[in-house]
Amino acid sequence: MHLVLVVPWSMAATKSANSCSLRTALQSSIMVHVAREAVDIDRMPRGGPDASCLDRLLETDRLEYLDRDDVADDVKRSVIRTLEWTGEFFGNTDRFAKIVMDEVADVADPRILELGAGHGSLSRKLLEWHPTAELTVTDIDASSVAAMAASDLGEDPRATVRQMDAVAIDAPDRHFDLAVFVLSFHHLPPATAARVFAEGTRAADKLVILDLPRPPAPLHLVRLATMLPFAPFVPFLHDGVISSLRAYSPSALRALAEHADPTIEVQLRGGLLNPQIVVATRR
Ligand SMILES: C[S@@+](CC[C@H](N)C(=O)[O-])C[C@H]1O[C@@H](n2cnc3c(N)ncnc32)[C@H](O)[C@@H]1O
Repeated sequence: MHLVLVVPWSMAATKSANSCSLRTALQSSIMVHVAREAVDIDRMPRGGPDASCLDRLLETDRLEYLDRDDVADDVKRSVIRTLEWTGEFFGNTDRFAKIVMDEVADVADPRILELGAGHGSLSRKLLEWHPTAELTVTDIDASSVAAMAASDLGEDPRATVRQMDAVAIDAPDRHFDLAVFVLSFHHLPPATAARVFAEGTRAADKLVILDLPRPPAPLHLVRLATMLPFAPFVPFLHDGVISSLRAYSPSALRALAEHADPTIEVQLRGGLLNPQIVVATRR
């Protein structure tokens, strides 16, 4: 199992495996308890500063098709369409919309920013459920933005579709009541991901990150084993395996927020088998 998982996906895992000694584990644990700010964010494992040796093996520097410039647009579009379909079929779009609605329940006419919207289904649902919400629907990928602008979202007077990088939000401080980033955070390496915390809580009163959970390593192995045999043939599963290996643990999320700005407060919910929910605000 070790070879099957590590060799095809991960140079990072190999490096991590070589350095995964008892001494490293002890040093990591001391780091967490004594000096959290001393965490080297660029080298932090996806499982967080206190990740176990097995957890450190279960990560990769390999990019998803969605993040690669050398991958044909129709392959990327197929991944986005499958994400849209699975979101509807398994009820995640509704579940995520409910989480967002709850987080803006006290705001009369909320201004909501969706980052990394991909297909825009979450924004569509929020426009349908909330009679006065205004949505700014964005993604870094130009063809996803073009497809969303050409859809009903482009016609909706309460929606603005724009290209935007989640780490460089083009809006004044506190312009939005809420910014939401769904199933996308794990795409970013640690230093960049930390900037999402900084930017999201600057441009919005509240930043909500919904992402894949990072299960404990033995369970993670099982999840990977179910997808791995099909990953070379199905683009959605190829990206699914990499997503799983790149998902951040709760302790990693806390370390990223702390690195971004110690005044950022994070509440974590969900995880294990459900999506991980992060609500970040500035004190
Ligand atoms: C796995 S898809 C998720 C799409 C959609 N949010 C969903 O839940 O199905 C990840 C999305 O994040 C976008 N993305 C990646 N890096 C980004 C960044 N730095 N800023 C904004 N969007 C980004 C990708 O273009 C892609 O559309």
